[in-house]
Amino acid sequence: MEAGGIICFNGEYLPAGEAAVPAADLGVLYGMGIFETVRVSRGRPGMMDRHLSRLFASAGELGLEVHFSREEIDRMARRTAAENRLEEGGLRITLTAGGEISRPCLFVTARKSPYRREQYRYGIRAGFSSVRRNKDSPLVRHKTLNYFENILARREARAAGWDEALFLNNSGGLAEGSVSNIFLVVRGKVITPHPESGLLPGITRGRVIEACAALQIPVEERTVSPGELFRAGECFVTNSLMGVMPVTSIGGAPVGNGRPGEITRLIAGSLQLL
Ligand SMILES: Cc1ncc(COP(=O)(O)O)c(C=O)c1O
Repeated sequence: MEAGGIICFNGEYLPAGEAAVPAADLGVLYGMGIFETVRVSRGRPGMMDRHLSRLFASAGELGLEVHFSREEIDRMARRTAAENRLEEGGLRITLTAGGEISRPCLFVTARKSPYRREQYRYGIRAGFSSVRRNKDSPLVRHKTLNYFENILARREARAAGWDEALFLNNSGGLAEGSVSNIFLVVRGKVITPHPESGLLPGITRGRVIEACAALQIPVEERTVSPGELFRAGECFVTNSLMGVMPVTSIGGAPVGNGRPGEITRLIAGSLQLL
């Protein structure tokens, strides 16, 4: 579901249909911009410190101007959740590059979560995309407005009856999902592709790695071959909105015993407590 309701657009609160990015904005013309997806739970945006740090770090590295302070954006996020009476769901903070004749646009939109309870309970189906991640791309580590490849991969997955598409990189290694990071569990060890495999180092990915340290579960960040998925006992994907989601089949083949695994459950449970 895309954004509706009230949008915070450059600090003003407007009905969704009234907020417009100028046609001359380089975000519109060339996809120059970045965004964050923030989980709202009990009406409050979560992990805002981490989201704002990534937004500002990416803007700095990609030469985008952020024309509001961290505190201002934090306030906008909280007020957008409140204006939309959003108790459980997500916010998207979008920053465009602006252009010669227009300033950058920063806007916050709200939406309900697309994930369903039974997906957490029974797991989702994933499959490999024919689209490859370029691990050498300067954009792959950022959450940029260029999501067309991800959408193509997602469409392809949906047509095959899968919920999530998995990207391999240009060297044939496993990278990430179209909207998620991926983890395998093999003999009590948690394995996830290294950031150099060509992926967005997700905020939830970071929290999972921290949770594993607290739970004394060993974690390996390394090159992962797609074949390892078929030998894994458990698999899960993560993002800020879905949290930890079990993956119980890949390309039609069951992962482990085809049910969400114990370690996945343990990590998901401990994340909720953090
Ligand atoms: C391509 C991709 N990788 C990874 C993630 C996970 O990032 P995060 O945990 O920061 O939401 C996302 C989130 O939407 C994503 O789109």
